[in-house]
Amino acid sequence: MLFFISQYSLDTLEQPSDSGSYPDEIYQRGINSAHYVRGEIQNRISEEVRKDTLSLCRLIKEMTFEIMDQNMEDSHEDPALNRHLNQVAFLAKEVGEQLGLNETDLKILEAASLIHDVGKRLLNPDYSKLDRKLTDAEYAVVRKHVDLSLILLNGIIPKDIYNVISQHHENYDGTGYPFGIENNHIGLLSRILRAVDAYQAMTSRKHNVGRKKDGIMTSDQALEELERGSGRLFDPQVVSVLKRISSSYESSGNILN
Ligand SMILES: [Fe+2]
Repeated sequence: MLFFISQYSLDTLEQPSDSGSYPDEIYQRGINSAHYVRGEIQNRISEEVRKDTLSLCRLIKEMTFEIMDQNMEDSHEDPALNRHLNQVAFLAKEVGEQLGLNETDLKILEAASLIHDVGKRLLNPDYSKLDRKLTDAEYAVVRKHVDLSLILLNGIIPKDIYNVISQHHENYDGTGYPFGIENNHIGLLSRILRAVDAYQAMTSRKHNVGRKKDGIMTSDQALEELERGSGRLFDPQVVSVLKRISSSYESSGNILN
């Protein structure tokens, strides 16, 4: 699979924003946590685990949560984020299967989905727990979770998984972040992850960072949102597969909410 963008370098990731539009202090704390967690993971994972990328990513996720829960100052447990990652991985794989991805790409997609938002766990304060809409400055910090994920994961996961994660907030029309790439320049696996991530976030409690705080959308409401964003935020082919799949879950008791 070809990707348009290669890895960010660490130097680029750790630069503060030019605009100064987010509190540098919170981002800097996130960077420190990313280095700490990455070092702990590197010390603890065996060569054996590294050989199986799915097990590796599962372990990285578990260790990130464990280390952040136990060792960091002002730690806050985040079961909703953990659930989000598991559910997105499950659903992304289903979508990938429907789109006819081969086994290798399915594995990359599932592995990337399992850890795509680990950078959010490094953000303190945890904005997902706020009971109001985020300010622009707070939202700018939340957007930096992609960079934090990449700093944490740099060098400890295969490049193809890393690249999927780096593009998971790119929009189909080029208005996403951090690269602003569009259409087929965004890898297909990232386009799948983008839509599934949004669907799960809209339909789940407490993982609606930056979104309205007055409740959880039903599956139908979330699908309407996806439809509205089809061709703009999301790849239309991914949206139509998601619609088809979720209606089959509806009829068999939805496990995603
Ligand atoms: Fe994300």
